[in-house]
Amino acid sequence: MPLFDEHDLERLRAVPFLAGLEYHEEIGSTNDQAGRLAAESQLELPHLVLAARQTAGRGRGGNAWWSAEGALTFSLLLDAKALGIAPQRLPTVSLRTGLGVLKGLELFLPRETWHVKWPNDVYLERRKVCGILAEVPRPDRLVVGIGINVNNSFAAAPPDVRGRAVAMCQLAGQPLPLVEVLAAVLGSLGETLLDGGELPAAHWLELWPQYCLLTGRKVEVEQGQRRYSGICEGIDADGALLLATPSGPQRLLSGVVVSVQGVQGVR
Ligand code: BTN
Repeated sequence: MPLFDEHDLERLRAVPFLAGLEYHEEIGSTNDQAGRLAAESQLELPHLVLAARQTAGRGRGGNAWWSAEGALTFSLLLDAKALGIAPQRLPTVSLRTGLGVLKGLELFLPRETWHVKWPNDVYLERRKVCGILAEVPRPDRLVVGIGINVNNSFAAAPPDVRGRAVAMCQLAGQPLPLVEVLAAVLGSLGETLLDGGELPAAHWLELWPQYCLLTGRKVEVEQGQRRYSGICEGIDADGALLLATPSGPQRLLSGVVVSVQGVQGVR
């Protein structure tokens, strides 16, 4: 039985944010597929590539992305210009995506323990629920790949994944309506990714402090060969992480958070 049936796909086609979608029972990586589609200039965007199973799912930093049936694995192919995202705001797409996903998910499991971990992981009860891989296959196209632990089990997961991840169904005590969760996330992304109006970026920037996992905590960030350690003071309008370090303030536009005081296994 397919994970999503024709009725589910009709439901998704009705999401106003999307111009088109395709569904695969099995694919290598939805990001790779969205990257291939980026060459098709006539394709209407945003386009959703949704898969029940990935055989070569990719994570950040060249890592593999482990997932099992019942998780959401999908990518959005976006036209940044059409969304009104100015080139200088492109680095913020990852952050906006994380926040958009969180806002969609919390509707199904209202808790005070939803967090975003800069730049774009979503955490629940201090464990990772969602990972995001943003890529630029050509200068005028963006791919945001999103993996969300919704109804999947971790019984067959590698031990490191089992230790730091959580699925929403574990905390809800029951499976969640997968297609409705996806529709809510897509609707919410339409809001955090769209840069319309007179105050571009204001909406997501205002929301960030409320959900930031790192603010006020001691964190360590790796950036290439360098490692920064300090107290997180939030982010700025460019999406840069602000750290108070013993040698003065640091502003990091990229990097990997490798430790967070009070949170286990954040990598
Ligand atoms: C990370 O946390 O390392 C990012 C994980 C991103 C996983 C998603 S699943 C859908 C899309 N296709 C991929 O190959 N990766 C992303």
